[in-house]
Amino acid sequence: MAIVLKQKLFCPLVLALLLSIKPVLSSRHKQYGGGERKLSAGGNGDLVTDLPGQPHADFKHYAGYVTVNETNGRALFYWFYEAMSKPDEKPLVLWLNGGPGCSSVGYGATQEIGPFLLEADGKSLKFNNFSWNREANMLFLESPVGVGFSYSNRTSDYDILGDDFTANDAYNFLHNWFFKFPSYRTRKFYIAGESYAGKYVPELAELIHDKNKDPSLHINLKGILLGNPETSDAEDRIGFVDYAWSHAVISDETYKKIRQICDFKSNNTWSNEDCDQAVDEIMTRYDEIDIYSLYTSVCFAKTASSNDNSTQMKHSSKRKRRNMGGYDPCIDDYAKTFYNRPDVQRALHVTDGHTLKNWSICNYNVYDNWRESKPSMIPIYKKLISAGLRIWVYSGDTDGRVPVLSTRYSLSTLDLPITKPWRSWYHEKEVSGWYQEYEGLTFATFRGAGHVVPCFKPSSSLAFFKSFLLGEAPPSTK
Ligand SMILES: *[C@@H]1O[C@H](CO)[C@@H](O)[C@H](O)[C@H]1NC(C)=O
Ligand SMILES: *[C@@H]1O[C@H](CO)[C@@H](O)[C@H](O)[C@H]1NC(C)=O
Ligand SMILES: *[C@@H]1O[C@H](CO)[C@@H](O)[C@H](O)[C@H]1NC(C)=O
Ligand SMILES: *[C@@H]1O[C@H](CO)[C@@H](O)[C@H](O)[C@H]1NC(C)=O
Ligand SMILES: *[C@@H]1O[C@H](CO)[C@@H](O)[C@H](O)[C@H]1NC(C)=O
Ligand SMILES: *[C@@H]1O[C@H](CO)[C@@H](O)[C@H](O)[C@H]1NC(C)=O
Repeated sequence: MAIVLKQKLFCPLVLALLLSIKPVLSSRHKQYGGGERKLSAGGNGDLVTDLPGQPHADFKHYAGYVTVNETNGRALFYWFYEAMSKPDEKPLVLWLNGGPGCSSVGYGATQEIGPFLLEADGKSLKFNNFSWNREANMLFLESPVGVGFSYSNRTSDYDILGDDFTANDAYNFLHNWFFKFPSYRTRKFYIAGESYAGKYVPELAELIHDKNKDPSLHINLKGILLGNPETSDAEDRIGFVDYAWSHAVISDETYKKIRQICDFKSNNTWSNEDCDQAVDEIMTRYDEIDIYSLYTSVCFAKTASSNDNSTQMKHSSKRKRRNMGGYDPCIDDYAKTFYNRPDVQRALHVTDGHTLKNWSICNYNVYDNWRESKPSMIPIYKKLISAGLRIWVYSGDTDGRVPVLSTRYSLSTLDLPITKPWRSWYHEKEVSGWYQEYEGLTFATFRGAGHVVPCFKPSSSLAFFKSFLLGEAPPSTK
């Protein structure tokens, strides 16, 4: 039943570790310019009609660029799939992957929840019967600039990337996208994502919520959905260590040592050499297995892609750390092959098919140069909860990277009253996982799923997504 893809993302936790030793650029939310009204009416110019290897589809899909900053020449790439049936009656859902630096097209759309999944030959696509566009109109965004096909004409923009920058551009994207697709402007809107998007999603939701005070900018945001999300650095780190120990990845001795020497509440946890070394042991253990999915096998097909063989990679401890986290080229390289094809880039309105864009599934430069990361989403959660937004958080329980413990520790700091105690939820007569409802938030686990839940549990993920959109608890009986 479970389709096990040996897919891995950037090691997002490590990012949080590294950022603490970097200068934090303080950037304020920039005002939405609102001046860009020169976009074509209707998204029809972006209609995708001749995507190579695409299976038959009864719905329309669109791809292309939306300018988010005219001054600097920044444009974000999107791929939008209308719902399989009755798109006019279904909500709009924006999906974001993390990294930072990873592509929502390469992961979300073509490996997880989109209607066309990549085949291993890098040439064809197969229909995904559990695509989330059964339930919603699905919008995948490559964000921020530097990710996938998204770009800036001003290279200095790549030196100032961070959470705020990303949220601002994504916000501008939405408004300008609505000019292309005016029928979605007042549609019920949700934002979903996983991993480092655990930060992007609430941050964008907060920005929308704040800007909504101006009725002319109103976006009909109803809720957010987060999968194995980075939430609160201190709790995420403790959960990471506790999970490695409780899943027999490290010894009691190493565990005790880490708990003794590391100051997890510090914004500089890993600057302590002893702590750093002890944590290195976790990474070394994980290096031999798949940290994103503890009980599945690793990919031996091929060594790291030649592009990543830079001097920087070999000499940078950041790189070392991340590679230990297990970036796996097996599946990702098929995506690289596919999205660098001239006919594919032409079909998706990326290029004319002659001068090509250089697509990669994750951009290491974006990751390495990330300037600003918020240490905790908890204050934003509180704000969104009091605003009455629906917040659902789910966790694949075999992920070692952003483990279920990290998420539980993070959420417990919210101290929310429990409205429905811990119970099983079911799909196809089996226990899919467990869930608990709080005042303002629902938390659920996916039993036996790794970091990228829909890859492991496509059918129950779709059912869960449907429950989320309805605002109804997933089935608690067989
Ligand atoms: C465009 O981006 C630059 C650099 O990030 C910023 O200073 C400027 O305010 C942006 N312009 C608009 C209209 O948002
Ligand atoms: C970036 O520069 C290219 C080449 O001048 C231009 O065609 C393109 O429209 C610019 N992009 C944006 C978003 O302004
Ligand atoms: C695809 O999903 C639909 C709706 O859930 C279902 O009716 C159909 O049987 C599925 N088809 C296959 C081949 O699994
Ligand atoms: C760490 O936190 C302290 C106290 O909140 C603050 O003064 C310091 O600037 C922070 N350091 C970094 C690197 O963020
Ligand atoms: C990458 O590095 C490995 C190990 O140093 C080396 O064997 C390999 O030839 C390098 N590949 C390229 C394309 O430079
Ligand atoms: C594409 O980008 C990679 C780095 O991500 C670089 O090594 C490679 O040379 C680039 N290829 C082209 C054709 O520009």
